[in-house]
Amino acid sequence: MTNYSLNSEWELKKLILDIGKRIWTRGYVAANDGNISVRISDNEILTTPTGVSKGFMTQEMIIKMSIDGKVISQSKKFRPSSEVKMHIEVYQQRQDIKAVIHAHPPYCTSFAVAGIPLDKCVLPEAVLTLGAVPIASYGTPSTMEIPDSIKSHIQNSDAVLLANHGALTLGVDLINAYHRMETLEHTAHITYLSIGLGNVNMIPSKEVDKLMTLREQMNIPGRINICATDGSCQHDNSQGAASGISQAQIEQITRSVIEKLRKQS
Ligand code: 13P
Repeated sequence: MTNYSLNSEWELKKLILDIGKRIWTRGYVAANDGNISVRISDNEILTTPTGVSKGFMTQEMIIKMSIDGKVISQSKKFRPSSEVKMHIEVYQQRQDIKAVIHAHPPYCTSFAVAGIPLDKCVLPEAVLTLGAVPIASYGTPSTMEIPDSIKSHIQNSDAVLLANHGALTLGVDLINAYHRMETLEHTAHITYLSIGLGNVNMIPSKEVDKLMTLREQMNIPGRINICATDGSCQHDNSQGAASGISQAQIEQITRSVIEKLRKQS
């Protein structure tokens, strides 16, 4: 069995606690929300437990599972995250992914509630590392509806918004998955503020081409949907359909949000 990590299991558990503290401290999760997992071999993962604050976890809370969903070791008091099926779906579909984070950061979750995908080329870092971020259709938390809803999106993207729920990021390691969550929330925040200012200028397509060349040169890992500056996706233009609304409706919602924000200011 391939051991993917240079870190010991103890170090990885500690890193899960550190990332849990970061997402809680930054307000990416409230109460007991959010979950984190790491792949430790072809068939095994470590996952956070269900129903505890991810800001106050201890090492014995972390649970080892097989990627077919069986618990390998756990402390008696704790059960695996109720969303572990979503994490397992990612590990089964994507051999290149070694860590998964689910959180509810306020700005990107607001876009997920509004049904507006973060698919515009607005910031170079986001274009380089996230690409166009789609919205997976709504599913009842903890059921197979969520893994089913992300299935198609994780083929082309390492960041997905979950309709009326939150966000999911994938990484080649835990820090990478965390950075993607931070970039996603930062991008959503800036996009929201730009809408409030009344205008969102997109990066011109010839500049986006340059960024894509840079992405290759920098050997940035992972998969992205490349977005044209008109907002239409080259690899995946189904986000609107997945979230149950058309591109025209998304544009109309965006226009009415801008209009309302203008009236308020
Ligand atoms: P767990 O505590 O079961 O991981 O669930 C938290 C959550 O955010 C559900 O979406």
